[in-house]
Order: sequence, then C-alpha cells, then structure tokens
Amino acid sequence: MPQILELIQDDHELIRNLFDELESNPDTRDVRCITLRRELPGHMYAEEATLYARLRDLVPEEIHRSLEEHDEVRKNLARFERIPLRDDAWIPALRELREVVEAHFATEEGHVFTLAERHLSRDTLFELTETFEREKVEAAQQIAV
Ligand SMILES: [Fe+2]
Ligand SMILES: [Fe+2]
Repeated sequence: MPQILELIQDDHELIRNLFDELESNPDTRDVRCITLRRELPGHMYAEEATLYARLRDLVPEEIHRSLEEHDEVRKNLARFERIPLRDDAWIPALRELREVVEAHFATEEGHVFTLAERHLSRDTLFELTETFEREKVEAAQQIAV
C-alpha cells in the first residue's frame, strides 16, 4: 500500500483506539477527548488537502460523497463536544459519533483507497505523503488556538 494510504490507515486505527478507550475508561476521558478533538478534524482536513484534492476531478461523485460524510462527522463532533462528560447523554452521543466515523472510515478503506491506487501515479502518491503530515500538523495547531 502506498505510504499516504498507510498514514491514513494508521490515523483510522488511532481514532478507533481512542473511541475504545473513551467508551471503556472513564478516568482518561477528559484527556482522550482533547486528543479526539485534535486528531479527527486534523485527519479530515489533511485528507481534503491531499487525496481528495487530487481525486476530485477524476472521480467527482465519490469525492463529493466523501466530503458529505466529512460534514456529517463534523456536525456530529460539534454536537458531541457540547455535551458535558458526566451527562447521561454523553455515552449515547459518543456511540453515535463513532458510528458515523466508522462508516466513513469503512468507505475510505474499502473504496477511496482503491480509487487512489487506480487513478493516481506512484509519484503523486509519494508527494502527497509529505503534504499530508504537514497539513495535519498545521490543522492541529489551528485547532489548539
Ligand atoms: Fe475521511
Ligand atoms: Fe480517513
């Protein structure tokens, strides 16, 4: 698998592990929430700035659908962030957010990755790897402010 897709896959694993820990360990919730609020938007932003930007003209329908899924994740995340940690609605909101995120990851891993390998050259994919990391760091800095 090209490196950029491995980076995306690694992010997905990290976020899945965060969800596991958020659900199972109440003691670390506050810290893990901060990580999720940085990692998830940063990941989506970096995807949009790299893979999605390059695939947009080649497979417009698929990328349009993926962007809509990103919007859905962002809306869910915004709703989730407004619920206090100790509220009874917190776990249901976490599970709902996770469901939307997992469905999107499944689309990317099962479909968008294949399109990327089919439509983009090895050189392009290689070049995007570096940009992906940079965009993610920049996005995380903006979120932290
Ligand atoms: Fe995505
Ligand atoms: Fe992703």
